[in-house]
Parts: sequence; C-alpha cells; structure tokens
Amino acid sequence: MTTIRDQLDLLDRRRAEAELGGGAARLAAQHAKGKLSARERLDVLLDEGSFVELDRFVTARTTEPGAQPIYGDGVVTGHGRIDGRLVYVFSQDFTVFGGSLSEAHAAKICKIMDLAVRNGAPVIGLNDSGGARIQEGVVSLGGYADIFLRNTLASGVVPQISAILGPCAGGAVYSPAITDFSIYMVRGTSYMFVTGPNVVKTVTHEDVTMEALGGADTHASTSGVAHFACESELACLAHIRELFRYVPSNNLADAPQGAASDPRDRRDEGLLDVVPANPNKPYDMHEVIRRVVDDGGFYEVHAEYAQNILCGFAHLGGHSVGLVANQPAVLAGVLDIAASMKAARFIRFCDCFNIPIVTFEDVPGFLPGVAQEHGGIIRHGAKLLYAYCEATVPKLTVIVRKAYGGAYDVMSSKHIRGDYNVAWPSAEIAVMGPKGAVEIIHKREIAEADDPVAATDAKVEEYRAQFAHPYLAAARGYLDDVIDPRETRPRLIEALDALRTKRDRNPPKKHGNIPL
Ligand code: HXC
Repeated sequence: MTTIRDQLDLLDRRRAEAELGGGAARLAAQHAKGKLSARERLDVLLDEGSFVELDRFVTARTTEPGAQPIYGDGVVTGHGRIDGRLVYVFSQDFTVFGGSLSEAHAAKICKIMDLAVRNGAPVIGLNDSGGARIQEGVVSLGGYADIFLRNTLASGVVPQISAILGPCAGGAVYSPAITDFSIYMVRGTSYMFVTGPNVVKTVTHEDVTMEALGGADTHASTSGVAHFACESELACLAHIRELFRYVPSNNLADAPQGAASDPRDRRDEGLLDVVPANPNKPYDMHEVIRRVVDDGGFYEVHAEYAQNILCGFAHLGGHSVGLVANQPAVLAGVLDIAASMKAARFIRFCDCFNIPIVTFEDVPGFLPGVAQEHGGIIRHGAKLLYAYCEATVPKLTVIVRKAYGGAYDVMSSKHIRGDYNVAWPSAEIAVMGPKGAVEIIHKREIAEADDPVAATDAKVEEYRAQFAHPYLAAARGYLDDVIDPRETRPRLIEALDALRTKRDRNPPKKHGNIPL
C-alpha cells in the first residue's frame, strides 16, 4: 500500500519535472542566447516569493504516439504581486516545442485572463514563442482566437501588458497588439512580424534582416507597434514593474498614490526661462514637465515614436496623471498623423482607467503637405480630437505658448470639456500664426507697399498685439486663468484635488464610432 509520504515523493518528482520544461540542454541554449527562462523571468518580474502557479501539470492534448507528456505545455501561468498588488501572468517557455501555442497552452492563458477580469487584476504576458503549434493545426489557431476574444473583452476593464522576449510571429502578434499601450521589447532578442524575412523576400523581393524588419528599435521608432525598446530582459521586466506605480488594477479602482516628498506648493523659478523670447525658437518640453511633476519623474511612453508629441505618466502632488505635451523641439511640435495616433491611444488608456489627463500645449497647428493629406491626416487627426472629446476623466490644460488653429480646439480646450484650462502669459491663441495671417488678410496692402517686407513686419506686429496673447480667450472664459509659470505645479495640484470627485458621463450608447 502506498502511503501519503510515497505520494508526496511522486508529487515532488513531478513538480521538479514540470520545472525543467524542455530539459537542461534546451535551457542551456536559451541562456546561451542571452535569454532568461520562463520561470526566471517571473522571478524577476514579481515580488519575491509571490508567484502562485496554476495548471503546472497540464499536458499537450495532441502528442506523438508514445511520447512522454511535458508538464506545463510550454507556458507557465498563475498569479503574483507587484509592489504587493495582484497581477495575473503567463510566461511562454521556449524550451517546450519552441513555446508554440497548442490547445492546452491556449486554455491555460485563457484561464488566467478570465480570473484576472473576475478579480479586477492586470494581465501581463511574457511572449517567447514560435507561434501556432504546427502539429495541432486548426486547434491551435482556435486557441489564438480564444485569446484574442478575451483580450478584446478585457480591454478597458483591466490593464493588459505584453512583453516580447523572443520571436512573436504570424497571427500571434495580434494578442500583444490588442493589449494596452504597453508592448515592451528587448534589443537583439525580440522580433515581431506578421510575415518573416523569407516570405518578404519571396513576395516583395526585399532583402531585410529580422532586426530591421521587426526588431525592438524598428517597432519602437518606425512602426510605433512597440511602446518601449529595452537594453536587456532585466531592464524590460523592471520597466514593467515601474508602470505599476501609475496605473490602477482595474477600471473601478483608483490609481496608486505617488510617494514623493516634493512639496505641493513648490514654485519653480526656472520655468520663467524655459520658453525662449523669440516665438519661433524651439525648446525642450521635457524641461517644463520635469520642473512641474513630483521629483521630476516622467515615465515616458512611446518615447522614440512621433517625438513631436510627448506622452507618459507622472505624479503631481501624489496624484497619478497622464501627460500629453506638444514638443516644440521636434517639428516645432506640430500635429501629424503619427503624433495624433500616438496621443489618441494614450488618452483613451487614461480615460479607461480613470487617470486624469494633463496637457501642456505649444502647437503651431496640423502639419501641411501632400504626404500628410494623402496619408489621411483628416481621419487620423480626428482620432485625437475624438479621444479628447470622449474622455470624461479630469482634463487640465496649460497653454505654454502657441495654440493655433484647429489644434487649439483639439488639445483639450475648454469647449471639449476641459475642466481646468489655463495659459502662461507667453500664450498665443489665434486662428493661425502671425505671418500666415497677415499675408492673407493684408495681401493687397502688402503687394502695393513700397517695401513689402517692412509692410509685412508692421502688420505682424499689429496682429501680435491684437491676437497673439491669452487675454481674449480669458475674457470669454475659455481659459479659467492666466497664471504665473512659476506657480504651474501648485495650481495643477489644487485643480486635481478639486477634481477628485468629478463625475461626468457620455450619452448611453453601445459604443461610439471613433474614426479608425
Ligand atoms: C511546433 C515548434 C514551432 C511551432 C518552433 N518549434 N516553432 N514546434 N510548432 N510553431 C520547435 C522546433 O521544432 C524546435 O524543437 C524548437 O521549437 C526550437 O525551434 P528552433 O527552430 O530550433 O529555434 P530557433 O532556431 O531559435 O528558431 C525559432 C523560430 C523557428 C524562428 C521561432 O523555430 C521558426 O521559424 N518556427 C516556426 C515559426 C512559424 O512559422 N510559426 C507559425 C507562424 S503562423 P526541438 O525539438 O528541435 O527543440 C502562426 C499562426 C497564428 O503562428 C495564427 C493566429 C491567428
């Protein structure tokens, strides 16, 4: 008769077998590529000792006749803690069938996604997979679709975060693509593409490397698919942990409070010198952000993509906020297709998860040109407008310098339910920039003048005096105040305190129809 002690021995052996994944040789190969194992990654990501594994004894439902079952079937799933907060995780194990997705592997992922939604906790997926398990055919394709559906249904309910830590190819890319803004990739070891270099060569005759086609830098700076490109897996996992300083666990929970010691009433003298006296000179909007937020901490999202707009998280007086800021140092901070899409998606994330949006505005308008018009700047710019209009979280706007044309309306203006709209005295709010305006409205006078350049300059000065200031907007109540730049931080914190209890709703509907 076997005793419970004998059974415990068997349990221990099976557990050890499960932890070995695809075996020592494959694990060594994984390490040789500079990659951690699925379990090592979870150890780095989660609070020490907090991981609770589920489904460790699940095996593949389709195996070669006589083949030994491999426990876990290529993915480690369960829950753990980040800074004490519950998160659900899956970590694909490349040592088992190349981390490929089978029916059982998919069912394990679906289980933790369902638990995450039911318990109001984020889902973090660590992807490292050869894609659909070839031996399982349509069953593995069905498994992907089961995950895609859950990604979509969980969207806006719990934050979903994807790290790409190896290959992620074919239809497999669409789960990370649906998850929230956060696709983290590692330089040199992460690849994402719908079709690999060989297929590309056959179809389009382009000779391209894996890295150039779908490596971390390509997706972080060119395609915009990845929000972060990291130097190493350790850096990537640490960066994911840091995100949790700003985002709540679900759409009904409050975002975590920051723990900074930065005084709430701190005035910043340096803010008087950031904006150059010459309105056509660039400056770095990061400088404004750093001087205003708690301890200068800015968790920038999509930093290498569409650098003419900045998006990211910070704390202000402990409040977690999403920052959107035009960047005059790049393309004069103009709004183009890429910037509009980048910021629209970020704003919608903040709105889903009750994170107030603070906008720093210095925008000369939308980017003119054939490429932009033919690329659909009308449709894509409308995304940004729609996202700001639709958002019901507290919306605070500081016009730092230019707010020209349609971009004035778009960038969280009072008219689209801005809650607290202020300007610095350096603000210029007008239908367009002075030179363009006078060349239209004084065209004849300038043409008939003895000295057209001098005539233009004179009219520009007149126009500036008449329009290029914040007081016409303030006179109408479109601005709640014109503030001393040095007081930006305390004024924003007071406003965030007052807006803590804000309640606003959009009309009941199935869903809106954002111009995709
Ligand atoms: C089953 C797979 C597999 C897969 C890899 N393996 N991919 N097993 N199904 N899709 C196995 C290999 O047989 C090998 O097993 C082990 O994993 C490691 O693979 P290697 O090729 O030795 O590794 P490496 O040289 O690092 O190359 C990794 C790779 C390559 C680039 C991912 O394996 C590859 O190209 N795999 C196929 C990728 C692919 O085309 N997948 C289908 C995409 S379409 P052993 O036993 O030797 O260790 C798709 C559709 C999804 O996914 C649709 C959703 C809608």
